[in-house]
Amino acid sequence: MSVGRLKRSEITRWLRLRSALWPSRPLEVQRREMADILSDEEFNAVFVSRDRAGHLTGFLETSLRLRAEGCHTSPIGYVEGWYVVPGERRKGVGGALLARAEAWAADRGCREMASDADVEDGAGRAAHRNLGYEETSRLAHFRKALAEGGARPR
Ligand SMILES: CC(C)(COP(=O)(O)OP(=O)(O)OC[C@H]1O[C@@H](n2cnc3c(N)ncnc32)[C@H](O)[C@@H]1OP(=O)(O)O)[C@@H](O)C(=O)NCCC(=O)NCCS
Repeated sequence: MSVGRLKRSEITRWLRLRSALWPSRPLEVQRREMADILSDEEFNAVFVSRDRAGHLTGFLETSLRLRAEGCHTSPIGYVEGWYVVPGERRKGVGGALLARAEAWAADRGCREMASDADVEDGAGRAAHRNLGYEETSRLAHFRKALAEGGARPR
């Protein structure tokens, strides 16, 4: 197994892994996000893991953010997406990807790294915790459909 920066020739395989992590995200949205990431390498990086044959087994997208929940410094390295194919999990691949992202952020002056995971994602949360991340808060999201013409003040 090796971990390194995404190569241009691996973009289609990166898209395949992204689609496995975010299956409900439309392809055109994925392509737009990927183009945005690749057009700003100052603030973004994509790391991938490869097996011996060179096939991608995982990826981690990281960015520099000015602020993040529970953090006290700026800028902050942020884990935007982190995925390892099911057959390769629990072998240290996710940890190796995260270590590369942390080093990338530290090289850019970051003193903290932040991330998020779904409250119901037991494995994702366990992986964060066991790789040195403390849980800073839990957030519930809400929505309400508004009547045509907007909501009336009470
Ligand atoms: C989270 C994820 C990237 C971890 O990848 P991985 O290659 O399995 O990570 P590692 O092998 O480096 O595991 C690191 C540690 O995390 C913990 N861990 C990982 N998966 C775990 C699980 N299912 N249950 C409990 N602990 C777990 C373990 O302590 C593990 O070390 P150990 O195997 O020596 O005990 C992978 O599980 C994944 O792709 N999950 C689906 C997507 C996701 O949840 N992404 C993260 C939130 S965005």
